[in-house]
Amino acid sequence: MENKVYIFDTTLRDGEQVPGCQLNTVEKIQVAKALEELGVDIIEAGFPISSPGDFNSVVEISKAVTWPVICALTRAVEKDIDVAVEALRYAKNKRIHTGIGTSDSHIKYKFNSTREEILERAVKAVKYAKRFVEDVEFYAEDAGRTENEFLARVVEAVIKAGATVVNIPDTTGYCLPSEYGAKIKYLCDNVPNIDKAIISTHCHNDLGMATANTMAGLLNGARQCEVTVNGVGERAGNTALEEIAMILKSHSDIDLHTNINTPKICPISRTVSSLMNMPVQANKAIVGRNAFAHSSGIHQDGVLKDMSTYEIIDPKDVGLDGNSIVLTARSGRAALRSRLEALGISVDDERLDALYQEFLRMADSKKEVGDDDLLVLAGGARTDNHHVKLDFLQVTSGVGVKPVASIGLDIAGEKFTAASAGNGPVDAAISALKNIIHRQMTLKEFTIQNITKGSDDVGKVHMQVEHDGRVYYGFGANTDIVAASVEAYIDCINKFKE
Ligand code: KIV
Ligand code: ZN
Repeated sequence: MENKVYIFDTTLRDGEQVPGCQLNTVEKIQVAKALEELGVDIIEAGFPISSPGDFNSVVEISKAVTWPVICALTRAVEKDIDVAVEALRYAKNKRIHTGIGTSDSHIKYKFNSTREEILERAVKAVKYAKRFVEDVEFYAEDAGRTENEFLARVVEAVIKAGATVVNIPDTTGYCLPSEYGAKIKYLCDNVPNIDKAIISTHCHNDLGMATANTMAGLLNGARQCEVTVNGVGERAGNTALEEIAMILKSHSDIDLHTNINTPKICPISRTVSSLMNMPVQANKAIVGRNAFAHSSGIHQDGVLKDMSTYEIIDPKDVGLDGNSIVLTARSGRAALRSRLEALGISVDDERLDALYQEFLRMADSKKEVGDDDLLVLAGGARTDNHHVKLDFLQVTSGVGVKPVASIGLDIAGEKFTAASAGNGPVDAAISALKNIIHRQMTLKEFTIQNITKGSDDVGKVHMQVEHDGRVYYGFGANTDIVAASVEAYIDCINKFKE
């Protein structure tokens, strides 16, 4: 059996389904290009029938990316497949990913159908997709809870119909690693034509077992795994790309390898986290800020004597060179461009000029501008088309005084000002804002992301605001945490659907 493991990245499809993490097409292209540099084999670019935005992203990613296979998701429905074919028209290498639920629960409650009917629909969809593309992947949704004998019948039938890859998702993240591994082995041993297709894993992390399950699948014969950067994804997320890549790299005893250019792991992790407004937990394996930080005296002593005492991965292998470059107000455009490129962000001259001005403003307010700050700056363009903009904000607060704020907003070119007192500086600022924008809106969640390095660092705020029965997600970043909070609130307001 081949010992190459194909990395199928679904950050832009399954990962992007998370509420509040949606990317626009420009951002998706940026991630897709970074994935190409990282060396992934397949990029799942979207679910084209789900929305015009998703359709357009698949079209644009197909144009922008050269080497990886571009994959589009469909249900086992002819119209979905037609739309996916259309979206993939510019892809140099293309794949259709079609499928249907196969567990008894999906068959009964989702489709009100029978096993035989589902099997027929699966075969029909694969045959239909095969008319347009050679590379067809079939997913048996909820395969984790599908009885093995029936799953084997489905897999055999879809391979006979032309499927080149069969995906065995643990959709609900329920399987134990032993169970999931045994399922893959069962398919290898009991599907007569299994040598005609690659088996893929697709594991969710609801019980914290996604990586363990993926590894169990690979050790039992799967040769493709579906993963996302930082493990992003609905609920508890998907298997983390960086974990599988580094497990396979570290364990030469397993003798499985990927095409992942591992020093690109930390840069893409930061890019995805920043664009999706999704902080990476500090102790996240491989890419967490503490993943290589030894704090106990015994560990520090050991690592200083010989790194191998407590470190199983050389930080350089994941792109941490230990001397992350900081820019200052004296740095020029070339240094800024070079650092942005190292972070996977390419900018044309016009955008560089605009970013440089913002960079100088930031460098004036804080001495050193690090990678996280640059990612915040580069993501700032998302506010360019905002209808409501923050013009100014002045807040007085302290011990023994009632916080008061005055605010200026620019709403479609018209200026408005208001003031208010509040329970704290953020409350005062938001109350002042509400004196200008008289709409029913309720703050549901308010998260301030850790300031990692110093008191002059950029603070990031994530917010959820309810308006008219819907919840809107907003993000703000500023060296002033009250201003970042107001920016996040305004970001939500700009997304309100009237
Ligand atoms: O989790 C899942 O079952 C999926 C399929 C649509 C592949 O994401
Ligand atoms: Zn999934």
